[in-house]
Amino acid sequence: MIPPEIIEEIKYRCDIVDFIGGYVHLKRAGSNYNGLCPFHSERTPSFTVFPSSRSFYCFGCGAGGDVITFVMKRENVDYRSALELLASRVGISLPRDNNDGGSSEAVKRERVLAMNREAARFYHACLYDQNLGAAGLSYLQSRGLSGATIKHFGLGYAPDGFGSLTEHLTRLGYSAPELSSAFLCGISKKTGRPYDYFRGRVMFPIIDVTGSVVAFGGRVMDDSVPKYLNTSDTPVFKKSRNLFALNFAKSKCSERLILCEGYMDVISLHANGFENAVATLGTAITPEQARIMSKYTKQVIISYDSDAAGQRAADKAIKLLGETGLDVRVLRIPGAKDPDEFFKKNGRTGHEKFKLLLDGSRSQFDFKLDGVLSRYDISDVDQRVKAASELCRIISETSSAAERDVYIAVVSDRLEIPRDSLKNDVARIAKHRQSNEKSEEMQEIIRKTSGFGDRVNRDTVKNVSAVSIEENLLGILLCYPEFVKQVRDGSLGLSADDFYSEFNKRVFLSIMNRFDPTRAFDFGVLAEDFNADEMGRITSMLVRRQQLTQNDEEVLRDLISRLKEETRLHALEASGTKEDEMKAIMDILHKKGRKDV
Ligand code: UTP
Ligand code: MN
Repeated sequence: MIPPEIIEEIKYRCDIVDFIGGYVHLKRAGSNYNGLCPFHSERTPSFTVFPSSRSFYCFGCGAGGDVITFVMKRENVDYRSALELLASRVGISLPRDNNDGGSSEAVKRERVLAMNREAARFYHACLYDQNLGAAGLSYLQSRGLSGATIKHFGLGYAPDGFGSLTEHLTRLGYSAPELSSAFLCGISKKTGRPYDYFRGRVMFPIIDVTGSVVAFGGRVMDDSVPKYLNTSDTPVFKKSRNLFALNFAKSKCSERLILCEGYMDVISLHANGFENAVATLGTAITPEQARIMSKYTKQVIISYDSDAAGQRAADKAIKLLGETGLDVRVLRIPGAKDPDEFFKKNGRTGHEKFKLLLDGSRSQFDFKLDGVLSRYDISDVDQRVKAASELCRIISETSSAAERDVYIAVVSDRLEIPRDSLKNDVARIAKHRQSNEKSEEMQEIIRKTSGFGDRVNRDTVKNVSAVSIEENLLGILLCYPEFVKQVRDGSLGLSADDFYSEFNKRVFLSIMNRFDPTRAFDFGVLAEDFNADEMGRITSMLVRRQQLTQNDEEVLRDLISRLKEETRLHALEASGTKEDEMKAIMDILHKKGRKDV
């Protein structure tokens, strides 16, 4: 266990407002701070940081905890690794954990990063090895890449055998399980031995914003499939949270970022002077990636392939990026299917021409408008009406009235339909949508109050009122640890047996165990006993209660007696059912017995 005074020191130095402020744009609201939640997609801020209890809580998705929980959730690591991360940030070194021989997750991360760095060096060196990698180098050259570009991106070649990288890394002291946890090797089912995962492929290292090699993409050099192999998620890599070339683009994109589909597109763009280009990693864009982009830039220009799949993907990207408040535009490249092809075709004039395209890129609405108009024959009255209603639906999704008016004017001109009738349609659709959203909200409330789907506390559905009393009661203990002392010395008459739900009983026991009368209590210590989702629930008990002014002993005593009553009633009911069940079983047995005789 890590000494509490060290945890206290780390938490003291990593002030929660400053720290979370580095990830979330926080605005002061009274004594707290609000911002857009980094753990779910939202337009209005429900994420709150409470400096007084050094906690955060999202009223939208229920994420919550202290600064350590924030790191656990954000980096997807366990308690110990989160502490290590924070500790190294403020220059504190943690005592070695003897229980696990120092093989904690942070150590594993370091080893994986070191293996990746070594592998990138190895692949890059192979490119210049006559025997191993000549084919790789000539492939990259045939794609038009200069020596400087190959070096800049650290491109490489994975030789076409099963053992080159494996042997190299084994010699450096990495074990088979380590190689496979970094996703650099597979383990043979037959022999149990490791073998190279990437073979006969040109290699694209993926480098995170801190400059670490976190993953690889490897492309075949012919038409075989799969065209690319990519590193799966490892202790240092989540493909949904990384973007290719963001390490270069991050300092060049404060105004505008170009989002493309492929590694090769990004490389061509950078090589032609557009260093603000990034790509997702073989998957459709995720909400996390959208949020990351919104941290670095104001405007994203989507430059996806011109085929149908590319345009569908663009629709999704528009939606996700728009939700983060970014100005989103879509690029149409005449005469080429993607940026890579465009630069190939345009040679030296490529840069200037592409720049013109970027400046003329269409707004999201124009992009959608063209999409709709291309699907209908607007000289036909019926089709024109259909196109109009589809466009009204799109316009109704815009919340700004001024923006709506502009779009309505455009559609009115294009379809020759009076503005007023379009305006009425838009208003009608918006109203309808609002009432749908309201009823969804209602259903959500009903779902919550009935306890269905509560995965943290599975007993909620069985007795909502008992669980709610428990949460209020625990909330008071968490806000006002002086009452914990009174529970301890027995003066409040509350014990673990009084709890109805297993989860809340665990919370109660954990508070009792971890409470140390010689120091100030911090609810964050519970994170050693609970996972991040559970910490969210515990934080909600704390922050909901701390917003109420009535938190005195009288309230607490009242809650305790109500809880005892609930638990007593429930015990009665339970024993009642048991008796009834027994009786029914006896009846059946009697009847059966008679028949058999
Ligand atoms: P593309 O097929 O457009 O690849 O796929 P590309 O990068 O433009 O490569 P070239 O120009 O054909 O050489 C776009 C992206 O989708 C992912 C890769 O990230 C690729 O860059 N992808 C594609 C895969 O992950 N696996 C595949 O099999 C294919
Ligand atoms: Mn391509």
